[in-house]
Amino acid sequence: MKKLSISILVLLTLVACATTPQNSLNSTKPPASAVASAHPLATKAGLQILALGGNAFDAAVAVTAALAVVEPYSSGLGGGGFWLIHRAEDEFQTMIDGRETAPLKAHRDMYLDEKGNVIEGLSMDGPLSAGIPGVPAAMAHMAKKYGSLPLKTLLAPAIRYAEEGFQVDAHYQNLAGFRKKALLDSADAKRLFLLDGEIPPLGHVIKQADLAVTLDAIARQGHDGFYRGPVARQMLRGVQSAGGIWTQKDFDNYKIVEREPIRGEYRGMRITSAAPPSSGGIALVEMLNILAAYPLEQTDSASRTHLLVEAMRRAYRDRAIYLGDPDFVDVPVSKLTSPIYADGLRASIRDDKATPSANLPGIKPGEEGFHTTHFSILDDDGNRVSATVTVNYPFGSGFVAPGTGVLLNDEMDDFSAKPGVPNAYGLVGAEANAIAPGKRPLSSMTPTFLETDKGLAILGTPGGSRIITMVLLGALDFYAGNDPASWVNLGRFHHQYLPDYIQYEEGALQQEDIQKLKALGHELKQINGHFGNMQAILWQKETNVVSAASDPRGVGSAETQINP
Ligand code: GLY
Repeated sequence: MKKLSISILVLLTLVACATTPQNSLNSTKPPASAVASAHPLATKAGLQILALGGNAFDAAVAVTAALAVVEPYSSGLGGGGFWLIHRAEDEFQTMIDGRETAPLKAHRDMYLDEKGNVIEGLSMDGPLSAGIPGVPAAMAHMAKKYGSLPLKTLLAPAIRYAEEGFQVDAHYQNLAGFRKKALLDSADAKRLFLLDGEIPPLGHVIKQADLAVTLDAIARQGHDGFYRGPVARQMLRGVQSAGGIWTQKDFDNYKIVEREPIRGEYRGMRITSAAPPSSGGIALVEMLNILAAYPLEQTDSASRTHLLVEAMRRAYRDRAIYLGDPDFVDVPVSKLTSPIYADGLRASIRDDKATPSANLPGIKPGEEGFHTTHFSILDDDGNRVSATVTVNYPFGSGFVAPGTGVLLNDEMDDFSAKPGVPNAYGLVGAEANAIAPGKRPLSSMTPTFLETDKGLAILGTPGGSRIITMVLLGALDFYAGNDPASWVNLGRFHHQYLPDYIQYEEGALQQEDIQKLKALGHELKQINGHFGNMQAILWQKETNVVSAASDPRGVGSAETQINP
């Protein structure tokens, strides 16, 4: 981004702000509720539920369902996600893990040919690439255990959007273009998401009658409306006749898991973030632990970027080696999030020289899908939700189970398709994220809460492996005292150990800094376009102001509503 386009972006960013100055300092209840999501219709659904007296968890169900309809390229009933929640009355926090699981008929070499090479596309397109969805189970669980309104009420906006349709925008056109081939291979996807086999024009209305019926089954029967009965039977018939391996047993076995979030501290800022099978919380805390000993505020910008990149490099290396589904592998959470461990990593960082990743032998991280969605919610009691939800690639696998409107994920691609193969250093790795029946693939999704004595931040973003570093940049900006409009507008840079170069958005680094970083031995690559679509809320407790912002790179909206 050039300077000029940054200022345009600032203007375009949807920022909402609400305050009641009469409220006392350190009020336990916010003066306003807020919803920030990647689509205005989803934000509206969340606000409607809050206006009906629902809490943040009710609103989260409504937003999840609405996004499943109006952002089919990012998330959906056929996908999975993580919902980090905070209940104000007793300060209880948990992460609802609705990540997809590998089907029971999956096996570790299922994407390899007889020579042991990865068959291109098999883990990305069509029903064989899909894990067992977790979104319907997570919505039903969240509504039943934490919500206060009936599921029927919570799903009503999504059902209406599916019946009445939503309009195609430029973002939709881009992503449908990117996945056109996969969409053409599925009769229902072609009929729903393309127009006569082509990208629909701007303003074209996408209606999803079958999806409305599936949502209605969940509204009436909860979990079983999706995983049992007519919807399940129809999905399984469609998946199996197109070469998929899902069975009713997979549906019977699917369970969400409530997990203890990952916690950390950065100079008095408390971090609460996603637990494994996401790598997000661990890598975020590890990077912040490494950085905590540096006076970043007094460091020139090139040196600051250098230190951040070195922290990223080390955390991503650990991510590739150690992380996977904690129900299948031992994840050394306390070691990786320990400040003492970070001291050791920091000791290997030089101020005057980049560390080549080759000097830190490890494992090449797997490629990860980059289309996902995030939303943040704060209600008038101070309940909050930070949720990141996905179907992995844009439009997931591209396959819609005939007659159900359910677009399947391609989350199986988040496993390492070929673990155990020695890397350039002879190390065997990525076993932690090998495919196994019933296992959850490793994720980078990083829904996060940050708290200081001055305020509370709720944030997250899509963006595949870059998610964690985007949240890191946002966290440091919150710590520096800036507001959500600033976090979502920041120019972004990223390093993930391998490939060994700094990726950055246009305008994210100054020319002078690029030269200094090169002189330290860093390689840099400007990416085409942008990354991320951050949705963020701040409750500034000192001033008792709630503000929210939606990333200008997307089409989302952030709104606050003053509490009665
Ligand atoms: N599919 C992207 C992620 O889970 O990180």
